[in-house]
Amino acid sequence: MADIHELSHVPGDDGPGDSVRRPDPDAPAIAVRDLHKSFGDVEVLKGIDFHVDHGQVVCVIGPSGSGKSTLLRCVNRLEEPSSGQILVEGIDITDPETNLDAVRARIGMVFQQFNLFPHMTVLRNLTIAQQRSLKRDRAEADRIARANLAKVGLADREDAYPAHLSGGQQQRVAIARALSMEPDMMLFDEPTSALDPELVGDVSRS
Ligand SMILES: Nc1ncnc2c1ncn2[C@@H]1O[C@H](COP(=O)(O)OP(=O)(O)O)[C@@H](O)[C@H]1O
Ligand SMILES: [Mg+2]
Repeated sequence: MADIHELSHVPGDDGPGDSVRRPDPDAPAIAVRDLHKSFGDVEVLKGIDFHVDHGQVVCVIGPSGSGKSTLLRCVNRLEEPSSGQILVEGIDITDPETNLDAVRARIGMVFQQFNLFPHMTVLRNLTIAQQRSLKRDRAEADRIARANLAKVGLADREDAYPAHLSGGQQQRVAIARALSMEPDMMLFDEPTSALDPELVGDVSRS
């Protein structure tokens, strides 16, 4: 796993060369403290506190427009919080010194709008970040991608382009793509919104 840049030093442990901090295995996977987020005059998140332990599944429910997507996007800093603290495995990602890329590499995200690359085949959508970010070779990336496509029931669609797939199929490609990065934790924004009820259970289990 990638090293994380040191943000806050431990008292009495600040010798030279001690500037790299690793994730704290005893810290919650995600801890959010007094998180506020406003868009202009509109305060969407008004002091959110919660934590998620390793292995725990937490669902956030609420009406449309209540801030669920904003909250998830703050957790990997796709959205800049107005104030508050977000710790990922003990590392404060609101600290400007944090190496965000290293933290984000451990957090998978499936967006509400899927965000597939429209000009790439399904298989390429699953392999490009594996090769570019994780430096996997083509053969390994293909193997992992195909295993995850099989998991979501799309083994026979690897050569299709996103526009030729149904909404539910696109959503499953997005899930398989996130799984292919083998992240420590996953953020799903409405992960089953476009799926048939029969498929919801399959996705939740994988
Ligand atoms: N980039 C943005 N600029 C301005 N307002 C936004 C932006 N993103 C979200 N909002 C507003 O924040 C509120 C919460 O949105 P969102 O987090 O998408 O809600 P949910 O996912 O629960 O439906 C909405 O009122 C939305 O209009
Ligand atoms: Mg939303």
